[in-house]
Amino acid sequence: MKKLMAANWKMYKTRAEAKATAEELVSRIKGKLPEDREVVIAAPYTALATVGAVLEGNAGCSLSAENLYPAEQGAFTGEISPAMLKDVGCTYALAGHSERRSIIGETDELVGEKVAFGLANGLSMILCIGETIDERKAGEVQKVIDRQLEAGLKDVPADFVPETVVVAYEPVWAIGTGEVAGEDEIVEAHGFVRKKLENIFPEKASEIRILYGGSVKPGNCAQIIALDNVDGVLVGGASLEGESFSQIALA
Ligand code: 13P
Repeated sequence: MKKLMAANWKMYKTRAEAKATAEELVSRIKGKLPEDREVVIAAPYTALATVGAVLEGNAGCSLSAENLYPAEQGAFTGEISPAMLKDVGCTYALAGHSERRSIIGETDELVGEKVAFGLANGLSMILCIGETIDERKAGEVQKVIDRQLEAGLKDVPADFVPETVVVAYEPVWAIGTGEVAGEDEIVEAHGFVRKKLENIFPEKASEIRILYGGSVKPGNCAQIIALDNVDGVLVGGASLEGESFSQIALA
């Protein structure tokens, strides 16, 4: 299984900034990315074509959207379909990032529709899950993970290819706070995710990648990806500079 080192640029970067960052990243990892590593950049819609052009032809590098809408086309003002994303070179899309759940108000059900529709339309999907600090304090980590996985994976087509489904565990309290989850907390949560995946997809669960996200930096990435059931990372802040994300990609 290839480790997946994913950047999430959120709502940062004009096209020129995105191009410069992607070029710096590519120049730093070119020829150095191990065979068992994959790099993905999730960029804002307006920068996708630009970043895609930089990544094109670079083995092991793929382009992702940060979101999609689960319909082929139609009267959905402001939304973007999987076909449009594939048209600009995306092979991945995120679904259910905690910022979309908490700020935009996406429900578990909508997130599940996005995952299923993206997969059915040829994208690999990164389903983001994770508890808030209040949920952790209330002892509800497993309950939240269980609910978000159940709904998020509900309509995944039975014949899905395991590499095309990725789960990113991002405890909300560790996102953008500098407070990385402890190793025990990561191992426990990822172990629980794996068990749940085994329940849902008994034959494919071991090949589904589980990423950790939340204050991943060049200095802590190597320890994190060495933990049990950690198959890569999803990185926000530290992915915004080509140099720091290249260190993470090669960690
Ligand atoms: P940070 O790496 O900035 O904590 O963000 C994590 C994240 O939200 C990635 O999707």
